[in-house]
Amino acid sequence: SLPKQVKIVEVGPRDGLQNEKETISAEVKTELVNRLTSAGFANIEAASFVSPKWVPQMATSKEVMAAIARKPGTIYSALTPNMQGFEAALAARADEVVIFGSASEAFSQKNINCSIAESIARFVDVAKAAKDNGLRLRGSVSCAFGCPYQGEVPLDAVADVVGRMRDLGCDEIDMADTIGVATPRKTQAVMERAAGVFRLDGLSGHFHDTYGQALANIYASLEVGIAIYHSSVSGLGGCPYAKGATGNVATEDVLYMLNGLGIETGIDLDIVVDAGQYISSVLGRKGSSRAGNALAAK
Ligand code: HMG
Ligand code: MG
Repeated sequence: SLPKQVKIVEVGPRDGLQNEKETISAEVKTELVNRLTSAGFANIEAASFVSPKWVPQMATSKEVMAAIARKPGTIYSALTPNMQGFEAALAARADEVVIFGSASEAFSQKNINCSIAESIARFVDVAKAAKDNGLRLRGSVSCAFGCPYQGEVPLDAVADVVGRMRDLGCDEIDMADTIGVATPRKTQAVMERAAGVFRLDGLSGHFHDTYGQALANIYASLEVGIAIYHSSVSGLGGCPYAKGATGNVATEDVLYMLNGLGIETGIDLDIVVDAGQYISSVLGRKGSSRAGNALAAK
C-alpha cells in the first residue's frame, strides 16, 4: 500500500528560480516564500549560498533569508557546497543545509568543479559544522537516474554516494533526476537500491519533468514507500549546469495527484495555485503546471 502521508519540499524559490536569466528581486523571492509558507509547506528550499559567479540569480539569498516571515516549525533550507557557503547559511539562520554531490563523475566536475571524492571530502567539514550548530543536514545526489554528460549512471555508483552521504550524518538524502530521464521501473530500481543503503523514511525523490515522466516516477516511488518529494510551484526551474533540463515537477500537479489518492500533505492547493499565478505574472509567462493552470482558470 502507498504511504498515507507525504512531505513535500517546495524547491521553487531555489531550484525553480536559480536558472532564470533576468535578476529577480529579493522582494519578489521573499513574497514567493511567504506565500508558500502560508500554503503550509513544512520545508521550503529558500536559498543557495554558492558562488555568485556560478549562479548569479542566487546572490540575493542573504537578503531573502533575512526578510522572509518564518513560521515556527517550518524548515527553511539552503544549499551549501563548502564551508564558505555554510558560514553564510548559518549567519542567515537556515534551519537545514544541503550538501549536493553527484553519482556521476562528469556532472560533479561541471556543477561543483571537483571530483565526487573531493566533494565528499569538502562535505566532511560542512556536515560536522551543521551537527555542531544543531542544523539539519540533507544530502542531494544529482544524476541518480542518468547524466547529461556520461549517460548511464551505474546503480553501484548511486549506492556508493548514498552510503557516503549517510556516513556524513545526513538526516535526509535526495535521489535527484537532474535531467528528468528516469522512467517508472528504472526509478523503482534506483530507489530500492538506495533503500538498501539508507532509511526508507529518510529518502526523497527530486524529479525534474524534462521528459514528462515525473508524476509517473513519483507514483512508482510511492509504491516503493518513498514519502518525501521535491517540487516547484508552477513547475519553475532547471539546473544551469544541465543543459536542456527543464523545471522540477510542478507542485500543483503533485498535490492534485496526492489529493486524489487520499494521501495527506497538509498543504492548501488553492494557495499554491495563487502563488504559482503570482510568480508566473512576475516572470511574464504562463506557468507550466497543468493542474495549476486548470485550477486558476476555474
Ligand atoms: P570553484 O571556482 O572551484 O571554487 O567553485 P573556489 O573555492 O576556487 O572559489 C572561487 C571563487 O568563488 C572565490 O571567489 C570564492 O570566494 C568564491 P574569488 O576569489 O574568485 O572572488 N566562492 C564562493 N562565493 C560565495 N559562496 C560560496 C563560495 N565558494 C566559493 N559558497 C563552487 C566551486 C562549489 C563554489 C562552485 O562550483 C559553485 O558555486 N557551484 C555551484 C553550482 C550550483 O549552484 N549549481 C546548481 C545547484 S545544484 C542543482 O541544482 C541540483 C539539485 O537541484 C539536484 C538535482 O536536480 O540534481 C540540487
Ligand atoms: Mg534539481
